[in-house]
Amino acid sequence: MTVAATITHHHSQAPDQLAPPLKWAGGKRWQLPYLRTFWERESHRRLVEPFCGGLAVTLGLTPHRALLNDINPHLINFYRWLKRGLTISIEMANDETQFYFQRERFNELLHSGKHSTKEAASLFYYLNRTGYNGLCRFNSRGEFNVPFGRYEVINYRRDFLPYKHAFSSWDFTNEPFDQLALDEDDFVYADPPYDVEFTQYSKGGFGWDEQVRTAEWLAKHSGPVVLSNENLRLTSPAQYVLPASGGG
Ligand SMILES: C[S@@+](CC[C@H](N)C(=O)[O-])C[C@H]1O[C@@H](n2cnc3c(N)ncnc32)[C@H](O)[C@@H]1O
Repeated sequence: MTVAATITHHHSQAPDQLAPPLKWAGGKRWQLPYLRTFWERESHRRLVEPFCGGLAVTLGLTPHRALLNDINPHLINFYRWLKRGLTISIEMANDETQFYFQRERFNELLHSGKHSTKEAASLFYYLNRTGYNGLCRFNSRGEFNVPFGRYEVINYRRDFLPYKHAFSSWDFTNEPFDQLALDEDDFVYADPPYDVEFTQYSKGGFGWDEQVRTAEWLAKHSGPVVLSNENLRLTSPAQYVLPASGGG
């Protein structure tokens, strides 16, 4: 593995880009200026994000083809509904009573196996924007249990049709990262949960073994790979680039 770059925090967003629709911990929009320098000469490839999270990177790089995966089923259900063309009709208000009422409805849908419905996707968006820090956390009974967020102002979006066009040639999957079927010339951007995780994204967690498995899995890929993670020793984020082997 070659260390190609160590990068530091920097904000940027081109004005014509669609914003990530959710609040999601670990968003990498600030890495886009650095990622573009790698992506520019590879943009004929399919972009694969095994840990797509809030989609900041793919929405920023706007590839023609993409495979976007995350282990969180609610996140991927929401994106699949955006791809179909979502407009939200449920009530959305920055109000504590309404929040807990909608949280209950969401949990009822999960209990009755209706987690892939349009209503579940709409409620997931509302709970994400209105709950504490955009967290996605479940108790041992599998109930979403994030508390009310206490934001001063929330600008809810109801019409997500612009995402339908952007997502039309992107595929969304909900698998553990190492179940993904990569094509040999895919460009992979991997942004796994940090080694010391302050937020829980999903059941099970992501420990050191998974960090090692991620690196080993990526090292087997013949196309270009960017792996980003928190370098706790340097106390700044670091990025490692594996050179494409085999003529890539
Ligand atoms: C650091 S976040 C990615 C953030 C994303 N790059 C962005 O800009 O928003 C890591 C993501 O990995 C997902 N994840 C955790 N364990 C996973 C696994 N075993 N396989 C696939 N995804 C996983 C989490 O649900 C989370 O969304």
